[in-house]
Amino acid sequence: MKSPKLSDRTNSGSIVENRLHLERLVSAAAPTPTEINAGSDVVSGLTQNPKSLPPKYFYDDRGSTLFELICQLPEYYLTRTETAILQESAGAIARLTGPCEIVELGSGSSTKTRILLDAYSQLEYPLNYVPIDISPTILENSACQLLADYPSLQIHGIVSTYELALAKMAPPQLPTRMLCFLGSTLGNLNPQECDVFFSQIVGALRSGEYFLLGIDLDKSHEILEPAYDDSQGVTAAFNLNMLRHLNRKFEGNFDLTQFEHLAFYDREECQIEMHLKSKKAQTVNLRSLDLTVEFAAGETIRSEISRKFNLDAVRADLSRRGLMPVQVWTDPNQWFGLILCQLSANKD
Ligand code: AVI
Repeated sequence: MKSPKLSDRTNSGSIVENRLHLERLVSAAAPTPTEINAGSDVVSGLTQNPKSLPPKYFYDDRGSTLFELICQLPEYYLTRTETAILQESAGAIARLTGPCEIVELGSGSSTKTRILLDAYSQLEYPLNYVPIDISPTILENSACQLLADYPSLQIHGIVSTYELALAKMAPPQLPTRMLCFLGSTLGNLNPQECDVFFSQIVGALRSGEYFLLGIDLDKSHEILEPAYDDSQGVTAAFNLNMLRHLNRKFEGNFDLTQFEHLAFYDREECQIEMHLKSKKAQTVNLRSLDLTVEFAAGETIRSEISRKFNLDAVRADLSRRGLMPVQVWTDPNQWFGLILCQLSANKD
């Protein structure tokens, strides 16, 4: 079916026909007044030794599109494995939660959400979906596709970082809510960030509401490393695009031809690390941040960690925080895990 048009969209958020409401908490180009400390994370990351950058800067429109391509790569087993688990479990998830508003953090193309929407619609539950994504283009396009395919669906899309969206979460339109954090994006947070993130999840949920978490599990580096250094170079392009994004957002002059993609598995830390390696000694300026950065030849910026988890440890960690696991699913290889939790009764 043809997608509806977003004819009366404005930058501040608007109702577009009566089934789609879009809200913008951050802007894609220049920082908005809501992003009070925009760029302070870039300054601190690039002035530290070793250098690092927050992975959120992967996701401008081009980065989000490249990530969608990564998800289809033969080496990137995560998406197809989690999809297969969801196909097996979606009916059970819908029966366990009952009618509920589905909120997705980092919704992207919302491909996996369709599996959940199908399961909820088969049970004739009302369909309310709140996709949250940093890329307005991807969010709008996927919302339009979904509206075309699910005639009773209501969407409240939010262009935002997770932190902002969780802090400003409105009460659900249905009796309960399920916050979904799929694709093992949890792995991109270090343990301290993970701690803060789980507190934000607990803060955004009311007692009895649900949290659905997809996590990549620890496995051999022979499977892990090609997933982050694919033969077609899509992951390399995704990594380098972060520098292009910073150039645009903060008036920078990174020369993309003078950096290269690097990915390896650190078995001690159970994490993939992605880096951008400077091919020569060079100086980079980010004008709007008033920042000059010197690079030695071979010096790297760590652009991402992707942690690989132990299912039992995560389950125990969630329980300690009051997010009680209701059911856990995995694939025959035990490569990926999906955990449905419910916030315990004694929060409020
Ligand atoms: C979004 N996130 C879960 C991806 C991952 O696997 O850590 C990001 C990614 N980086 C390189 N490839 C994919």
